[in-house]
Amino acid sequence: MSQYDCIIVGSGIAALATAAEICEKMSVLVITKGSIRDSNSSLAQGGVAATISKRDHWKAHFEDTCYAGRFHNLPEAVELLVQQGKLDIEQLIQNGMTFDKDANGHIHLGMEGAHQQPRILHAGGDATGRKLIQFFIERVNKNVTIMEHTMVTDIHVVDNRALGVWISGENQQERYISGKHIVLATGGCGAIFDVTSNSPFVTGDGLAMAYRAGASLVDLEFTQFHPTLLYIEGTCKGLVSEAVRGEGAVLVDDEGRRIMKGLHPLEDLAPRDVVARTIQKVRADGREVYLDISMISQFSERFPTITKLVSNAGLSLDRKKIPVAPGMHFLMGGIRTDLFGRTSVERLYAVGEVACTGVHGANRLASNSLLEGLVFAKQLANVLRQPTRDSNEKFKENNKYVMKTLHLPKKMEIQQIMSRYVGIERDETGLRKALHFFEQYVNQTSFFQCNVKRFTKEEVELLNMVTVGWLITKAALKRTESRGGHFRTDYPNEVSHWLQKRIPSSLKQQLEVS
Ligand code: SIN
Repeated sequence: MSQYDCIIVGSGIAALATAAEICEKMSVLVITKGSIRDSNSSLAQGGVAATISKRDHWKAHFEDTCYAGRFHNLPEAVELLVQQGKLDIEQLIQNGMTFDKDANGHIHLGMEGAHQQPRILHAGGDATGRKLIQFFIERVNKNVTIMEHTMVTDIHVVDNRALGVWISGENQQERYISGKHIVLATGGCGAIFDVTSNSPFVTGDGLAMAYRAGASLVDLEFTQFHPTLLYIEGTCKGLVSEAVRGEGAVLVDDEGRRIMKGLHPLEDLAPRDVVARTIQKVRADGREVYLDISMISQFSERFPTITKLVSNAGLSLDRKKIPVAPGMHFLMGGIRTDLFGRTSVERLYAVGEVACTGVHGANRLASNSLLEGLVFAKQLANVLRQPTRDSNEKFKENNKYVMKTLHLPKKMEIQQIMSRYVGIERDETGLRKALHFFEQYVNQTSFFQCNVKRFTKEEVELLNMVTVGWLITKAALKRTESRGGHFRTDYPNEVSHWLQKRIPSSLKQQLEVS
């Protein structure tokens, strides 16, 4: 039976940055469902937010993060993100990561929604995530084993302590691997919705496994829908970065009327939830929505990835209009952790989107997610590097498992239910329909105690999708207010948050004392 000092599940920025931080003295196994480059981080276009400009200040980034998060954020987590984030980015640059520069040789800082000023570093134009992943792949040493095309099917937990993972590889052969520390860095759950910017591999596996392991999950109702996915004939073809609006593009309907004009003080750069809801309404009226990019000179040089996406989809940029629709992008909630990635299960950690440190509140600020991956990977590494007791833990049986087969829905059914009833706008009637759908499955006896080791990878994925869909639905029913990424049409009080002073006095105090 193999044993590693640390097993990391996932291959995005949080996973690889953690591996790079600890691999000097620890044996690390990185397990990923697809290839090492199949992650949401690799798809991230816009960039990474950091207050590296002399004209900027961490307090402004703090304020923007809390405003976008509708003041549901944990202030200590935000302060850590924006202060440490700046230092981590500066160190990354010193270590050789290159970000795009302007004509004067200074790092070019882009603008994105709900930021007070340009502070988005980007690489390869709109290939920031891909470049960062490449940077970290080159930085992990021979102590890191990368296992691709392998699904972790369950975490082995005995007496509230994580001891290892069960995996299913390409030949569907199940195997157990033990680890002194188990880190979940599996991203969110975009692929449980039918329109998403996420990789199809992102089916909420880490969230569901953590739930089965007995870890606490929190804030799952806060789901962020990115306003502008490239949308052609009912199909999503990828992301069109918010940085495009940051460079001046505006949202128009098929008559060329600006749809964000007068709707919010920040217009096209309003927080994502506001823009996504507006686009959804216009489309529900039977009108198409486009990004008018006519004012952006040299679009293909600044946005090569988007240019390729549009061209691969058979459209020409000569029209200067990109058809868009909103889709699931990011989960603000997740596995509850402290500021060091520790969950409520001993030796089980979560980092990146799968974790909920409270940093994003009810809605994540644009380009804060790669930053979260970097900052919280370092935090977690500080804990992982500490010596642990019982380093030669032997395998212990867990008696919870029940051998049985389960009745499970089709993937498409789950995705349609989520988008229809647990999507951009929700209400009690729809949420109850979704709950009824999910309860047909989760109410089967021993649903959460099933011995998934005997399941195919596809079955485990469906079990995970049902689990996460059910948990999000329950959380959305419980929160009888609208806030950030959770909009209840039966409690449409969100407008009061827009009118709220930018920073409530409780947070002002935090800014003053620090
Ligand atoms: C984008 O480029 O619009 C996505 C980046 C993010 O989600 O912050």
